[in-house]
Amino acid sequence: PGLATYDPGFVNTASCRSSVTYIDGDAGILEYRGYPIEQLAESSTFLEVAYLLLQGELPNASELEAWTHEITYHTFVHENLKTLLQGFRYDAHPMGMLMAAVSALSTFYPEANDVKDADNRDLQIARLIAKMPTIGAFAFRHGKGQPYVYPDNELSYVENFLAMLFKMSERKYVADERLVKALDVLFILHADHEQNCSANAVRSVGSSQVDPYSALASGIGALYGPLHGGANEQVLKMLRRIGTTDNIGDFIEGVKGGKEKLMGFGHRVYKNYDPRAKIIKKAADDVFEVTGVNPLLKIALELEKIALEDEYFVKRKLYPNVDFYSGLIYEALSFPPEMFTVLFAIGRTPGWLAQWKELTTDSEQKIARPKQIYTGHRTRDFVPMAQR
Ligand code: CMC
Repeated sequence: PGLATYDPGFVNTASCRSSVTYIDGDAGILEYRGYPIEQLAESSTFLEVAYLLLQGELPNASELEAWTHEITYHTFVHENLKTLLQGFRYDAHPMGMLMAAVSALSTFYPEANDVKDADNRDLQIARLIAKMPTIGAFAFRHGKGQPYVYPDNELSYVENFLAMLFKMSERKYVADERLVKALDVLFILHADHEQNCSANAVRSVGSSQVDPYSALASGIGALYGPLHGGANEQVLKMLRRIGTTDNIGDFIEGVKGGKEKLMGFGHRVYKNYDPRAKIIKKAADDVFEVTGVNPLLKIALELEKIALEDEYFVKRKLYPNVDFYSGLIYEALSFPPEMFTVLFAIGRTPGWLAQWKELTTDSEQKIARPKQIYTGHRTRDFVPMAQR
């Protein structure tokens, strides 16, 4: 009684009002606070974009300096968080470790519970953006059995992340500028995407007014799934399994027969093309110039070409999405597939937080509590054990 609509997967339900990100899926448009993603990828930096998403406007020079300083000086994590990470099995998935570590942060900063205090909110936001790369890098080195490398606050956000991942001696780590730029662009492309599955998870959990660490941990859980951020890891595994271009025909037939999905294809919103995938192709060229071409690229290009001409994919408006090429770049940058979604999560953190902040300051927002259509039994009498 009183049920308005049945909309599994929220295909046609707006759960909030938001001024953070605009998408026109038919036209292939993505804008953060009104700025086209193409221009931001070309001219901005990840920390500047994070500021834009969170504050609503681009920073001036002194605002950007203060913001960068704020993020830089929150990069360290409590030693006991390191101990927590060290307790994981050697083969623990880094997304599982990230999810656990971020939720554990709520116990290190119990004052984060006060979500109505603006200064307190901003402090937790800075901590989260700053600490995500540190936790991600610790999880990566844990899997390799290597000692964790502490943050170097003289480096930029991306350089510091690369140093924590790949530094192998006492000498200062120097990353290739072109690789730093490519990773920065990838973080920008992933920074927000309006009401995707993980943002919806952050909003839904955040609507209970829990602290932002707990809310973001739920977002990380949602992102981990293969239909969402986990797709980038699955694309690489799929390309490896296909192995050579000769096997693409059989693989496509399998997809059309419903055996499996073509990972990295399709999108709930983009039914023409994913503007991020276009920019990523360019970033891939820049990276391959430094690292040499990833041999799987040939299979990916051929797979894309065949799929884009095939009636099955054309009819369903399935195009490459952001995850189709990002994995090839990450692999060329020496990341193992299980780290790919961690990179997505680091990039997405400002978007999750911008939406969480918007939610906590929105007087119209209520606790998320959808309706259901009940399909079970109605009232019946309890049956004693002997009579069942
Ligand atoms: N391969 C083969 N068939 C597909 C694919 C695919 N990748 N994606 C959708 N379809 C088919 C689907 O089987 C359905 O066919 P039919 O009408 O015959 O039943 C039709 O296309 C419509 O698909 P849908 O599942 O109703 O679409 P959706 O909007 O619910 O799902 C999606 C969107 C992204 C979950 C889906 O396209 C998918 O699973 N893609 C593969 C995973 C992937 O690449 N995910 C990354 C998404 S982009 C970034 C992110 O969120 O992380």
